Amino acid sequence: MPHPLILLRIAPLLSSTAAVSMTLCEDVFLRPFGAPHPTLRKPANRLLLAHVNAFKPYAMAMTATFYFSAIGTAVVNIKFRDGGLGLSGTSTAAPRNLSAVFYLAGVVFNALHFAFAPRDLALLDIVADEDRVDADKGKDNCTAMASWVSLNVSRGLLADFPGFVCTFAGFLLSLS
Ligand SMILES: *[C@@H]1O[C@H](CO)[C@@H](O)[C@H](O)[C@H]1NC(C)=O
Repeated sequence: MPHPLILLRIAPLLSSTAAVSMTLCEDVFLRPFGAPHPTLRKPANRLLLAHVNAFKPYAMAMTATFYFSAIGTAVVNIKFRDGGLGLSGTSTAAPRNLSAVFYLAGVVFNALHFAFAPRDLALLDIVADEDRVDADKGKDNCTAMASWVSLNVSRGLLADFPGFVCTFAGFLLSLS
């Protein structure tokens, strides 16, 4: 029977792993729409409206779930950092305090994900806001999707991936 605290300690890592995996999957699955084969560009431009609108509610629910639980459970770990698991043989408080520092850095990076939200939503609006169809008539939706994919890469490198690494370090240090 594992120590009950281990569930609390690993919760931010599980959520942060899910978050960074989602970033990676979005890149893999959406990148082709940013640069379709020339013969497919026309249909891709038309298809994006339906595609993005179909996945948007689920993608938003997943984003909220993964990032809010990564942030929330890390905050709980920082608050209740006492009670080492004794897995490293030492029982000093120093590694656990350092663990809290890394969990906090993870919180900051994971929260930084949301700083990209306005630009993210503006690009998706170009691609998939039916009310804007007239205003954006003729707009190349694939180009907007390509911009979204590069935003996702920048955000992944500046926020999601560092958030995952810090949370992982926080977890390892919490084991002492
Ligand atoms: C982009 O998608 C909209 C629908 O959202 C469509 O009306 C428009 O024609 C598309 N753009 C191109 C270049 O096909």
